[in-house]
Amino acid sequence: MADTITITDDRTGKTVTVPIKGGVFSSSALRELDPSLFMYDPAYLSTAACASAITYLDGDNGILRYRGIPIEQLAEKSTFLEVAYLLLNGNLPDKAQLDKWTRDVTLHTMIHENMRKRFVDGFHYDAHPMGMFISATAALGTFYDDAKDIFDKTSLDKQIIRLIAKVPTIAAMCYRFSQGLPFVSPNNSLSYGENFLNMMFRIGDDYKVDPVLARAMDILFILHADHEQNCGTTAMRVVSSANSDPYTATAAAASALYGPLHGGANEAVVRMLTEIGSIENVPAFIEDVKNGSGRLMGFGHRVYKNFDPRATIIKKTAYEVFEVTGKNPLLDIALKLEEVALNDDYFKSRKLYPNVDFYSGLIYQALGFPVDMFTVLFAIPRTVGWLAHMQELLGDKEQKISRPRQWYIGEDERNYVDIAKR
Ligand code: CMC
Repeated sequence: MADTITITDDRTGKTVTVPIKGGVFSSSALRELDPSLFMYDPAYLSTAACASAITYLDGDNGILRYRGIPIEQLAEKSTFLEVAYLLLNGNLPDKAQLDKWTRDVTLHTMIHENMRKRFVDGFHYDAHPMGMFISATAALGTFYDDAKDIFDKTSLDKQIIRLIAKVPTIAAMCYRFSQGLPFVSPNNSLSYGENFLNMMFRIGDDYKVDPVLARAMDILFILHADHEQNCGTTAMRVVSSANSDPYTATAAAASALYGPLHGGANEAVVRMLTEIGSIENVPAFIEDVKNGSGRLMGFGHRVYKNFDPRATIIKKTAYEVFEVTGKNPLLDIALKLEEVALNDDYFKSRKLYPNVDFYSGLIYQALGFPVDMFTVLFAIPRTVGWLAHMQELLGDKEQKISRPRQWYIGEDERNYVDIAKR
């Protein structure tokens, strides 16, 4: 069978045959048939907007690989900084490369004093930390003259290191501000995850990060580091395609992530479980969802239609965390909800399964993070994925400034009517 597709324009009888490569054919074939013809594809359900070598995702079979390596292996054997290197550079680092990379990131964790004193202090005391995080990330770029030199590899590499190193510092700073707590400076002797937990929760001198919790943080960061062309990454690519600097592009991607249908879902899950309140209320809640009074947050995925491999790893990690912190009281409600939904035809027929956000919120809560911080916790590791995609896009000769077309369905030409005559 030929690996081609033939499209016929029945209006003209004109035909064009195009190759199919990797399950994709170029839409430029349509332009050959008729340059005024466009495909209508709301929400890009069947459009590949780029070629990417970063993350492989097979939704039907629950497969997720970073640069070819299965997520299960990375979650078990790797560290977040090693995964960051892998995503950005294409291969795992050798010992010398990893040491240098870890040192580079660690030496850039500080933020300018004015970020904290002048910028963050301007927020209202109960500002949502994600709003603060997004603004602070964009503002960070204004501290670096070379932020806009995106076609200078040395400069872009430096911005990438700065962003990866500083997003945990910014996140912790937003949290401490919201709690009225003094800022804790980064500690260069700690690992990436430990340093973050230390900046978040240190009060007094005897605070020590539990190694099980630090490892759980690292695993969560690994699982969230990239997920190919989702809403946030698409925002990153679209903004980067205009050659914006990495700080403002990251802020744009984080803004997309903030939405409750995307990274905001983990926050929504905990609010939902709290609202359900007890196991007995689960069946009634499920019925309400089926009757259209809202969605079962943490369930369903645009791409995964069988299971989300990240959810499986997170569920296991949750139990390891609960060994240390004690069980999150919402866990029983979550388990019941999962059991009822997985046995219900409504969810089965629509292929709705727990996604990454269903259990991650329970771990975050057990680790001591307030619900408002959950999406920020997603944004920290995803910054790596966003930057890997920006880097890939800037080196892709086929890419141009993003500019989709529209199907105009508004009024035909009509005359302006004076206000007195309307
Ligand atoms: N609860 C109840 N019904 C649902 C849900 C849900 N969570 N998700 C989808 N459906 C139904 C939906 O109503 C529709 O039913 P019908 O065919 O009768 O109209 C059908 O399933 C297909 O839904 P869809 O909206 O076309 O699916 P989508 O691929 O556009 O949406 C989704 C994917 C993730 C936005 C959606 O499943 C959802 O809203 N889930 C809850 C929010 C959530 O957990 N988001 C986190 C996603 S994972 C983190 C990330 O990668 O960002």
